[in-house]
Amino acid sequence: MTATKAVAVAHSNIALAKYWGKKDEAENLPAVPSLSLTLAALRTRTEVAFDDSLERDVVLLGGAELSERPLERVRDMLDKVRSLAGLQRFARVESQNDFPTASGLASSASGFAALALAATRAAGLELPPAAVSALARESSASAARSLFGGYVVLDAGARRAEPLFSGSHFDLRMLVALVTRGEKATGSSEGMKLTARTSPYYPAWVAEAPRVYERARAALTARDLPALGEAMEQSALMMHASMLAARPGLLYFAPATLALIARVKELRAGGVPAYFTIDAGPHVKVLTLPERAAAVQSALAEVPGVVDVLVSAPGPDATLEP
Ligand code: DP6
Repeated sequence: MTATKAVAVAHSNIALAKYWGKKDEAENLPAVPSLSLTLAALRTRTEVAFDDSLERDVVLLGGAELSERPLERVRDMLDKVRSLAGLQRFARVESQNDFPTASGLASSASGFAALALAATRAAGLELPPAAVSALARESSASAARSLFGGYVVLDAGARRAEPLFSGSHFDLRMLVALVTRGEKATGSSEGMKLTARTSPYYPAWVAEAPRVYERARAALTARDLPALGEAMEQSALMMHASMLAARPGLLYFAPATLALIARVKELRAGGVPAYFTIDAGPHVKVLTLPERAAAVQSALAEVPGVVDVLVSAPGPDATLEP
């Protein structure tokens, strides 16, 4: 008898060297290599049950039923799993993030990683982590990285992510400064398509990103935080420069985003090793040493417009609950 129900837990990840743009849109293959850190403090728990009595797929996120595009993205993955497993039944999916999603903090990485793992197992498949990573990548490329703990790479054109180092290789802290959001931001998939189509800086980004990635990777290998931080900041700013030059320009920053960057630079001028990165939203993520995390957290919390500052250690692999 094969399992019809499974529960998986996956952690979110933040790219130190960013992925932005697709080599192949239909297959969702990334145009540039990326390097991420999986975060212990940002977790998604997803339960999938394939059930004979259902007449359609039902998907709940944080207790609220999904519809339209978000539902379609989940259904697309469920369809792939059904065809892999030769299954006809519909599924009930219940997913919960233990971090605030209302704030607009990206949850697709941990969300699709947990869904891929839970859905394949609930369908009776036992796939190796690399295959689950490949399935997650088809829904959201950054999700491929959330199958693995610690430091993870997703190469340009790669079908799956690969673990590079466990978190203990370089025990750092990532702080997530949550900023109030004004209007709804453009989603990553849409934003990167617009950038690729219209930004004159997109070719420059694709040409330069591999070099910044290599610098970040070498610095991480050498456990050199200043060099890693420098490469991480350049990766984020270069990615945002390519977005800003799109038509219409994609501006994800809020006033507090810039105030946080200024605060991080002040901290650094005062001798605190702290480095920022920013994704497709106004929040600012800051990398520092464990012994500096508390001081950096209070410094960031004082910045006007900041609603909360989460602190995270490196997180583990995605897992199935027994
Ligand atoms: C800025 O993985 O959300 O967070 O593959 O289209 O789903 P899709 O995009 P997504 O993009 C993440 C972009 C980023 C940088 C990163 O995580 O590398």
